[in-house]
Amino acid sequence: MNIFQKYSKYYDLFYRDKDYKKESGYIYNIISRFYKNPLHILNLGCGTGNHDFYLLDRGLHLTSVDSSREAINIANSKKKKKRISNEQIKFFNLDIRKINLKTKFDCAIALFHVINYLNSNTDLSDCFKSVNKHLKKNGLFVFDSWYGPAVLQDLPEKRTKMIKLKEHKIVRKSLPTLYPNENIAEIKFKFNLSDNKNKSENSFTEIHRMRYLFYPEIEMLLKMSGFALIHAEEWMTGQPIGFNSWYALFVARKI
Ligand SMILES: C[S@@+](CC[C@H](N)C(=O)[O-])C[C@H]1O[C@@H](n2cnc3c(N)ncnc32)[C@H](O)[C@@H]1O
Repeated sequence: MNIFQKYSKYYDLFYRDKDYKKESGYIYNIISRFYKNPLHILNLGCGTGNHDFYLLDRGLHLTSVDSSREAINIANSKKKKKRISNEQIKFFNLDIRKINLKTKFDCAIALFHVINYLNSNTDLSDCFKSVNKHLKKNGLFVFDSWYGPAVLQDLPEKRTKMIKLKEHKIVRKSLPTLYPNENIAEIKFKFNLSDNKNKSENSFTEIHRMRYLFYPEIEMLLKMSGFALIHAEEWMTGQPIGFNSWYALFVARKI
């Protein structure tokens, strides 16, 4: 899997305004609402570790995995800088469809559309089964997703985001294409980096294929993987999900 290899280097810059602290508080409250005394958390698709450090502040211990080696290297260097022990957080470069950690956790989380990178039913079911194997009895699985009814109501659009630094400018253009029969939105990210000092330019492209999901298929795939879907709400607002909920949060329990 090659996505996020080059992008990882700029990931934290593009999401420097994302409120990871608030999101981590929200996720901590969701976990605590459905699971008594959670401690050991498996974080799927942790990226550069931004939720991990805030969840650690809430007293949780994390084992966090991502398929991007670059993202894991960044997460590990932050961990080293913050002098965090291996008992508190461990990062591994692994694919969430086939993890085998030989440990069981209270809860697994997958935040910021990680699950949407699993494009086929097989990918989703491999991941869900692998998560199930890593949970204790009654363990929780909490993840967010692009929510199908809202995505089709308010289609993804072309966007441009620019980051200006002292000597650099980074422009990211997002160009979406929808594949309705696969439930896939393919986003072509075109990056252009200009270095004012050396007067040089560099560009690269990454294609992210995101599968938007619908309630009945999530419920069915979870059931087939040994989970009961116990709760769904709009991301961060807690409202019931519907046509306006682009981002939805799902909570499943191991049965
Ligand atoms: C949008 S990022 C979210 C990262 C992090 N959770 C956050 O909130 O900043 C999606 C992440 O999912 C990871 N990912 C996608 N497919 C994966 C897979 N099959 N196995 C492990 N990680 C995966 C990507 O490498 C990327 O870091």
